[in-house]
Amino acid sequence: MKRSTRRTINGRTAVISGAASGIGRALAQRLSAHGCPVAITDINESGLKETEAGLSGPTLARVLDVRDADAQHVFAAEVADWAPAPIGAVFNNAGVAVASSVLDANPEDDNWLWDINFHGVVNGTRAFLPILVKQNDGSIVNTSSVFGLAGMPHQSAYCAAKFAVRGFTDSLRQELRGTGVTAITVHPGGVNTNIVRNGRFRVTPDAPSHDEVVREFAKLAMTQPDKAAEVIHRGVERGKARILVGPDAYVFDVLTRVSPTYYLDLLNLFQVPLRKRAQRRALETV
Ligand SMILES: NC(=O)c1ccc[n+]([C@@H]2O[C@H](COP(=O)([O-])OP(=O)(O)OC[C@H]3O[C@@H](n4cnc5c(N)ncnc54)[C@H](O)[C@@H]3O)[C@@H](O)[C@H]2O)c1
Repeated sequence: MKRSTRRTINGRTAVISGAASGIGRALAQRLSAHGCPVAITDINESGLKETEAGLSGPTLARVLDVRDADAQHVFAAEVADWAPAPIGAVFNNAGVAVASSVLDANPEDDNWLWDINFHGVVNGTRAFLPILVKQNDGSIVNTSSVFGLAGMPHQSAYCAAKFAVRGFTDSLRQELRGTGVTAITVHPGGVNTNIVRNGRFRVTPDAPSHDEVVREFAKLAMTQPDKAAEVIHRGVERGKARILVGPDAYVFDVLTRVSPTYYLDLLNLFQVPLRKRAQRRALETV
């Protein structure tokens, strides 16, 4: 059975949310350099302008909150008018992090995350899907996480939203069978971006401070944003249904299949070699 079809997106329009930072910015830079006109959005205006300033190809940049379904539809119509080439891919990438135990959770923080990480993806999908269906071509690329493969302590809201993105996108992919449109989930492992810095942390007296967690994450994140963008770009072009980003993502993938309930114990065993590898890499880049 033929499982995937190669589809180049070079030269086609790419739509990217969360493009002011991290993976979204790196995707904008990479795809623009590969000849894609890019339509980029973010809630962070200054960061978005910085991204735009670094791109030399055709760019449409708009401040947009992915939670705003109407704004997403207005933007989709604007992109359809502006796009110098058919849309090759829509990257629903914007996201935020919250860390808290379920017991101590602040419902406001969890709802904030849920609205961005899940509803933001749904809004972006609904806004652009009719255009792709009309073209009978293109990919909806929704960012989940390795935390959309495994439940992790202190990540209940994040995991719930990322599992939901995976379920939503997998369902959409089945609906699109037999058409020229596809739906892809992206599962990054640790990528060295601002996700933790910009997150909301419920700090308890015995837990490390937000600053300490930011520093620790920067040490442990195994993949740089430009590498993540390369893996995602290649994955879309190879027609993958699911794109794993980084060696740690492959570890999560295998362990959650091998041991669907005890993967955390096994992951802990992998912590030491993964940590050592991350530290070695950090030293190599000094
Ligand atoms: N960095 C990682 O380790 C990692 C791992 C797994 C998944 N992810 C996912 O990758 C995606 C990109 O994150 P990143 O790591 O590049 O983080 P990042 O913080 O560097 O970038 C996220 C971007 O999303 C934007 N954003 C936040 N709320 C928004 C809103 N309401 N509307 C529009 N834009 C908004 C931010 O302003 C920021 O520019 C997210 O969905 C994240 O959950 C990241």
